[in-house]
Parts: sequence; structure tokens; C-alpha cells
Amino acid sequence: MKPSATQSFSKLIANRKVVVCVGSGGVGKTTTSAVIALHAAIEGRKVLVLTIDPARRLANSLGVTELGNDIQQIPLDQFRQIGLEPKGELWAMMLDMKLSFDHLVATYAPDAKTRDEILDNRFYQYFSTSLAGTQEYAASERLHELYMRKEFDLIVLDTPPTSHALDFLEAPNRLADAVSGKALQWMYKPGAMTGRSGLGLFSVGTSYVIKTLGRFTGAQLLNDLSVFLRTFSTLFEGFEQRARKVQSLLLSDKTAFVVVTAPDTLTIEEALYFYERLGTSRLHVGGFVVNRVHPMWVSAARLDAPAEQLSAELQALAKDLPAPAEAIDFDALASRLLENAVQFQLRATQDEHSIALLDEELPGQTPVVTVPYFSLDIHSLEGLDQARRALFE
Ligand SMILES: Nc1ncnc2c1ncn2[C@@H]1O[C@H](COP(=O)(O)OP(=O)(O)O)[C@@H](O)[C@H]1O
Ligand SMILES: [Mg+2]
Repeated sequence: MKPSATQSFSKLIANRKVVVCVGSGGVGKTTTSAVIALHAAIEGRKVLVLTIDPARRLANSLGVTELGNDIQQIPLDQFRQIGLEPKGELWAMMLDMKLSFDHLVATYAPDAKTRDEILDNRFYQYFSTSLAGTQEYAASERLHELYMRKEFDLIVLDTPPTSHALDFLEAPNRLADAVSGKALQWMYKPGAMTGRSGLGLFSVGTSYVIKTLGRFTGAQLLNDLSVFLRTFSTLFEGFEQRARKVQSLLLSDKTAFVVVTAPDTLTIEEALYFYERLGTSRLHVGGFVVNRVHPMWVSAARLDAPAEQLSAELQALAKDLPAPAEAIDFDALASRLLENAVQFQLRATQDEHSIALLDEELPGQTPVVTVPYFSLDIHSLEGLDQARRALFE
């Protein structure tokens, strides 16, 4: 780790209004989002973390067990229970990716009737679930909407587990294309439903779409299509403008992207690829969080010591046990423990090596911070605080 990485990472968060955590699936994006938010709240800011798929117990401890649009404040006494006295506030909301596009419709439909017409429309249902990046787009519009309310000093956005982090960036453009006149013309074109041409509106699941739509009669299909075209175009009148606003927020110096990665070489390579792509899109990468790093906790002297020595030490320790220790094969136990320690040390060495490579690849000012592999999952405020201290102190 660069000497001042922790400090520059901390400073980075302090200066932003929006932080977006991206990275491959399962690396710890949701956890890191919550940790960053917790840190900023302790430092005195009013923070909202938009989580996407929190593990149930983490959701419980953040008070966001219900999917939906509710913003919840984490009560102060929950912090006090673990000896924390935040100067700011921590709020959380669980974004439902499936519902976020519906939320857009509900927000921008001119009236309730149009809203229901769209939500019930089969074309809409395919559109909102099949086009890559649609839901990511809806989430980023949601972010923008909350940002514009100016209620929070900082919003931390988690990203979905399944999507490619880059869907998030490309979605506004792709979607703007899809709902522009061109795409609608495409849908009118004879033979469009064979899926051979077009701008990709249904390309993800074309055959599925055709198969499923095929179950309805031609009249029903045409009716749905005409309703979709009529209602959707009114809904998306201001769409391109909004898409541009969302993008300019993401591009501005108010926003920083944080790339979360595991310490293994493959995942780091993927993270570097994200980093490059974010850069190409002129998005600002604030730093890297390498999560679940195996710590070097066994000394070399310990590993080199003979197994008999460890066995003797274990026997001495066992004297204090309340239960009789005769049944224990101390020699076998000692060599298993040593073998385990050697394996762990090997992992730790590999991690150190790949983090050094990551450091080398990045320009000097990009902080790389690490969080150790904890023996337990991070499912409570206390666990988050443990990770927070690793990241920021
Ligand atoms: N440093 C860590 N040590 C131990 N467990 C961790 C650590 N970071 C994350 N976890 C656990 O790993 C699982 C996946 O993390 P999560 O943040 O949900 O990943 P993602 O959002 O990228 O899919 C969770 O159960 C979480 O508690
Ligand atoms: Mg997640």
C-alpha cells in the first residue's frame, strides 16, 4: 500500500457528493458501500447509502429489510451500543432493481391511467427487463433524483451483482438510442420482429420475446404495440435531457468511482479493465479497495520452528483445559496447524504480490487501500466498523 493511501482515500470521500462502488460480483461492493457511508457519517456528514442486494443480516442491521423506496435512518442508539458517536447521520435505502424502472414510469407518466397502461404493457415489461443496462440506468436516475433533493451531503451507490459494472456507464446512451425515433421506426419496419435488424431493443431475448408474444393473437399484439409506442413516447419526451443530466453528474468532479476487487490476480486484472474503461468514459476513479486480503499473521520464525516444538507448546496449553487432554494427538494436531499456517502464508504472499502489481499499474495518485479477510462475514454495524477502521485508520 502506498504510504498515504488511507489518507488520500479518506480525503477523496470527504470531497465528493457521490461515490459509486463498482467491481466484479461478490468482491464486497455492498459491504464497501456501507463502510464508506459509515465512515462519512462518523466524520459528520449526512450520508445516504443506496444498497442493492445486501445480505439479509446486513440489511437487518442497516434497518432496510423492506425492499422499496423508503429511506431509513440508522438510529443513533445502535451506534452507541458499539461505542460509536457519529457526528453526522447515516441513512440507508434498498434499491429494487426490478422496480426502479417502474418507479421512473410512475414518476414521469402524465397521469395514473397512462402509468398503469405502461406498467401493464407487455412490450414495456420486456423492454424494462431485457435491455442490458435498463435497470442500471433507472438506478442512476434514482441517484440523480435523490441528489437533486439536496438532503444529503453524500450518497454512496452500490451496484448490482449480476450486471457488468460498465452497463452502468453505457446505459444512458444505449437507452437514449433505444427510445429515440430511430428505434421506434425500427419497430414499425416490416419484418422487424424477426430480429435480424434493429438497434438492439429486443436483441437480448429476441427469440424469447417472439415465442412468448406469439402466444397472443395478432390483434392483441398490435394493440399492445400501439399502446406502447403512444404512451412510451410521451413518457420519454424529457428522457434524453434527463439522461444527459445523470451523465453529467456521474462525469463531474462531485462523483468518484471506487473499484472494489478481491486480491487474486484474475480479479485484479478485471478491476484494472474497469479502471481503464471508466477512464475512457472520462469518469473519475477515486481509488481501489482490495477486499478480503489474507493478512500475514504468522511470523517466519513460527513457520520454521519444528512441529515437535509446537506440539510441546500445545500440550502445555492443554494443561489449563478443564477437560482431560489425553485423547488429543498433539503431534498430528501440530503438523496440521503448521500446514494450515503455511497455506495461509502462501495466500498472504500471493496477495501482497498482486497488490504490488496493481500499485505499479496505477498512476501515483490513485490510492489503493486494503481490507483484511475477516474470519466472520460482515453482517452488523460492528462488523462494518471493523472494516471501516481497516480502511480509514
Ligand atoms: N473483508 C471481508 N471479510 C470477510 N467477509 C467479507 C469481507 N467483505 C465482504 N465479506 C462478506 O462477503 C459476502 C459478499 O460481500 P458483498 O459486499 O455482498 O459483495 P458484493 O456486493 O460485491 O456481491 C458478504 O457475506 C460479506 O459479509
Ligand atoms: Mg452486492
